[in-house]
Amino acid sequence: MSTSILASSVTFPISGKVAPNRFLKSAMTERLCTYDKENHDLRGKPTPEYLAVYEKWGQGSIGIIVLGNLPVDRTALEAKKNAVIDKRSPWDAVAAFKPVIAAAKAHGSLLIGQLTHGGRQTSDDVNPHPVSSSDIQNPPSMGMTFAKPRPMTVAEIDDLVDSYGFAAETLYKAGADGVQLHAAHGYLLSQFLSGRVNKRTDDYGGSLENRSRIVFRIFEEIKRRVPANDFLLSIKINSADFAEGGFTDDECGKIAIMLEAAGVELIELSGGTYETGGYYSYRKDSTVKREAFFIEFADRIRPTLKSTKLAVTGGFRSKAPMEGAISGKSCDFIGIARPLTAEPFFCRDLLSGAITEAKENKVNAPDQTQSSLYQIHAISESKEIPDLSSQAVVDVLMKEKRGLA
Ligand SMILES: Cc1cc2nc3c(=O)[nH]c(=O)nc-3n(C[C@H](O)[C@H](O)[C@H](O)COP(=O)(O)O)c2cc1C
Repeated sequence: MSTSILASSVTFPISGKVAPNRFLKSAMTERLCTYDKENHDLRGKPTPEYLAVYEKWGQGSIGIIVLGNLPVDRTALEAKKNAVIDKRSPWDAVAAFKPVIAAAKAHGSLLIGQLTHGGRQTSDDVNPHPVSSSDIQNPPSMGMTFAKPRPMTVAEIDDLVDSYGFAAETLYKAGADGVQLHAAHGYLLSQFLSGRVNKRTDDYGGSLENRSRIVFRIFEEIKRRVPANDFLLSIKINSADFAEGGFTDDECGKIAIMLEAAGVELIELSGGTYETGGYYSYRKDSTVKREAFFIEFADRIRPTLKSTKLAVTGGFRSKAPMEGAISGKSCDFIGIARPLTAEPFFCRDLLSGAITEAKENKVNAPDQTQSSLYQIHAISESKEIPDLSSQAVVDVLMKEKRGLA
């Protein structure tokens, strides 16, 4: 038995769900599901490869596993081959996701599905007619180009709220312990929250209350459809966009209090948007040294929360800073993404004492999403995971590109 504080369990106050330890596998897009450019009915269905990755992570002593982003609209993908829960899909999503969720939970982890909508950050290759809060176009970024979006009508917002409700209910019926709204990194809900992108003058734009209205309507719809005492509500939100006029840390602090009042039990803090280079935006030297990019924001927010739990994601790589963040009461959960693609048993091995830190990653920071995807795909095929601590392996891998982008 590990004596580390990281091995202590956490009970959520409303759903009563118990996370067996302090690790949260943050959402990572897998790009392992079905995709067809023309026939939308054939998009987003789980495959044996998608299942295989969660089978592996399910064995890894991860307190909470969050599925990679699940668009609720099959035309508003984060990327081709996303897993999708869209009410229009003709296939049975409950049956399709059940085995994946069961595999992830097989050894005691909690499982949460992350629901999203790409909005203006869906590449023009996937959707040449995207919608957003307003018509502010995303500049070319992350190797993609984007069409000018059209502002959503109120009828479309109503329909989107229903789509999120449907997707959450589907997750519940398929055995998930909870749902996470992806309101970070510049996707649609983040496009509503951001004063830089959201120029609406109706009930969904202007004040923070108005810009966040869509988020709270979605949570209300989920609570209407799924019992709160059996389903954990969560959100991933930017501590700040780090873009001029974007969502600020002050607004994050205010919204955290509103989220707790709405029954949200877990807030995961991240930061950045495509415009600012994604979740690397806050990667200053000082934050790299102390590992966690967003901990100073957590320190400000956590004292204002009564029972809602906080996860901080981005940069954690070794045991001592993780233990320090928990024992110092900065946060309740340590969010981990990239180390879990290099070492699916990273959390298990930290808890057992077999290791004290993650393997080095020699890939240039902006290419690390891509290299993690290579690793996820290797796991899905039970192949050897590319060792990114080896410069020789990195050189070959990044030259091949392997058509995953
Ligand atoms: C391959 C890959 C895919 C990602 N996909 C998502 C996603 O679907 N949803 C999300 O909220 N964040 C996504 N992220 C961001 C991570 O969840 C996390 O916030 C970020 O990697 C920082 O954590 P880390 O330093 O532990 O990697 C992704 C990151 C990677 C590397």
